[in-house]
Amino acid sequence: MAEMWQLKPLLLLIAVLLGVLACTVAGDGGMPLVIPITKDADTLLYSVSAPVAENDQITNHLVLDLSGPIIWSTCPDGYVALGCTSPACMQAHRFNPPNYPQTGYGRPDADNPHRCKCTAHPYNPVTGDTASDDMTQFTTSVNATDGWNPLYPVSFVVSTSCAPESLLTGLPWDNVGVVGLASSALALPAQIADTQKVPNKFALCLPSAVSNGVAIFGGGPLFLLPPGTPDIVATLAGDTPLRKHGKSTGYYISADKGIAVNQIQVPLDGYGAAPLPLLIALSSTTPYTALRSDVYRAFITAFDQATSEMARVKPETPPFELCYDSTQLRQARMGYPVPQIDLMLEGGKNWTLFGGNTMTLVNDNTVCLAFVEMREENKQYGYGGGPKEAPAVVIGGFQMENNLLVFDMENQRLGFSSLLYGKHTTCSNFNFLKFPVPA
Ligand SMILES: *[C@@H]1O[C@H](CO)[C@@H](O)[C@H](O)[C@H]1NC(C)=O
Ligand SMILES: *[C@@H]1O[C@H](CO)[C@@H](O)[C@H](O)[C@H]1NC(C)=O
Repeated sequence: MAEMWQLKPLLLLIAVLLGVLACTVAGDGGMPLVIPITKDADTLLYSVSAPVAENDQITNHLVLDLSGPIIWSTCPDGYVALGCTSPACMQAHRFNPPNYPQTGYGRPDADNPHRCKCTAHPYNPVTGDTASDDMTQFTTSVNATDGWNPLYPVSFVVSTSCAPESLLTGLPWDNVGVVGLASSALALPAQIADTQKVPNKFALCLPSAVSNGVAIFGGGPLFLLPPGTPDIVATLAGDTPLRKHGKSTGYYISADKGIAVNQIQVPLDGYGAAPLPLLIALSSTTPYTALRSDVYRAFITAFDQATSEMARVKPETPPFELCYDSTQLRQARMGYPVPQIDLMLEGGKNWTLFGGNTMTLVNDNTVCLAFVEMREENKQYGYGGGPKEAPAVVIGGFQMENNLLVFDMENQRLGFSSLLYGKHTTCSNFNFLKFPVPA
């Protein structure tokens, strides 16, 4: 018994020391935050849900936009507009949407003519429409994560723009705005980094179906089911530098050796194509990868030749140009067994696309090559620049699904996992059940 008496203070001391140690290891930084992602079957857009913490009954559904520099939504009655001298207002005016003149920081408040209300310019990435509306702030709540499960809710204030109802055209019916994920200060990753003291980086895992995909803000790890699957962030297939493109706030990478089909480089000369490297944009609001006309023709010709033995379906299903009889193809681990496509990226690594990311089932017995020709070029990739500046490739949602992409703004690098089927998992395998499981 006496021994127990001495043990207790000792255990207490150890517990205190461990507590101090844990705080030291965590430093000033908080935990990464985890957000589920859904895919809308009608619009093929990806959305997140953000509860408004002042009123837990209200959950806003917002479309994800990789190129979007701000967060915007329709505002409730009685919101408070930010003043023109607030730091968020200065940041809101670092960029302007294309063809949008610099119009100053705001307008007089109708209730108080001495006060200037901050104006921002929300942009709809589907229609290309822009509006002008007030900047405001609201409190939201997101779960912290250890990479395995959600841990506990964290509330923080986000600076957003209001928007008129008319700007919601083209978004899923229950969505009320857009969450920008670009590299600007008012996009969600920077606002989380700022308020949570976590690195300005995020991991994006878009789902292929209605079931939840996952995004983690503030760095890894990321574990997906089944148990035993390695940390996806620590086992990426490769990475490549992120590139800037004019005034655009979106993400770009560069393919200095171009594209290969069936492990043969696609010849671009003879199609009037600009020389290598190919500039590649990433767009979560473009359903299928779009190729600039010159690159598209060369690519389709190469894929057509590489699949000359495969049974075709004619007429093709627009907007696709190469369609095949799926009853003649047996689904393999990486999807339909078709020639692989390599994006040969700056730094020497390939982003390899397998059947699971290249062939889409358009009806019971037809699959088509899920790439399209770029049309309204300046609309396809977000902000800034005209058609002359269009990237050669805009990687769309279908090609990113079930791949983990790690956008690291601090080191200006994009990490990619390649198709997660290779690790026997998918983006819908994050365990969103809270741990420890409530009794
Ligand atoms: C946090 O996770 C729990 C458990 O999955 C979930 O019920 C809750 O809605 C999540 N909270 C937020 C704010 O996403
Ligand atoms: C990238 O792809 C090309 C074409 O398929 C291939 O020749 C090359 O060896 C690949 N590079 C790496 C690092 O895998």
